[in-house]
Amino acid sequence: MKRTAICPGSFDPVTMGHLDIIRRAAKMFDHVIVAVLVNPSKQPSFTLEERISLLNRATAGMDQGILEIVGFDGLLADYAKQREATAIVKGLRAVSDFEYEFQMALTNKKLNPQLETVFLTTSAENMYLSSSIVKQVAQFGGDISNFVPECIHDDIRERLCKGVEGK
Ligand code: PNS
Repeated sequence: MKRTAICPGSFDPVTMGHLDIIRRAAKMFDHVIVAVLVNPSKQPSFTLEERISLLNRATAGMDQGILEIVGFDGLLADYAKQREATAIVKGLRAVSDFEYEFQMALTNKKLNPQLETVFLTTSAENMYLSSSIVKQVAQFGGDISNFVPECIHDDIRERLCKGVEGK
């Protein structure tokens, strides 16, 4: 049986940390759906289409037979059922991530008992990384080359740096 997993997130924008988790999930499953979802507690900086486009470009070098990038506006548990996915793969950076992630994993399990959540420990070099950190650095004209792949630097900088005087 084909094993399908979902890597869900806001990806606003995708970072090296996300890409590391996606790459590792692709080694564990036959089909990995990277699902760009709405997080009701966040106001995104990039539209859904932009986030999908950034992800497509950032994952261009990965195994395209395994990866699929999609957008979905609804419950992750429902989408997983619809796509016959049996696992959600997420990265855990620090203890501070745990409570929220644990709550989501238990909720998703209640909504869709067939669905397991698999946590991958983030790589040490990405421990500190988050989309919000990337946005803050880009906003003030800082160097984001260690945080996001080169092919999407300019898009992120152009979008976020706009309001900064002299940049
Ligand atoms: O990258 P994020 O913002 O931490 O990802 C959170 C996300 C988008 C995966 C989560 O908010 C989500 O699953 N949203 C879809 C709606 C849903 O299913 N909510 C209930 C989860 S318990």
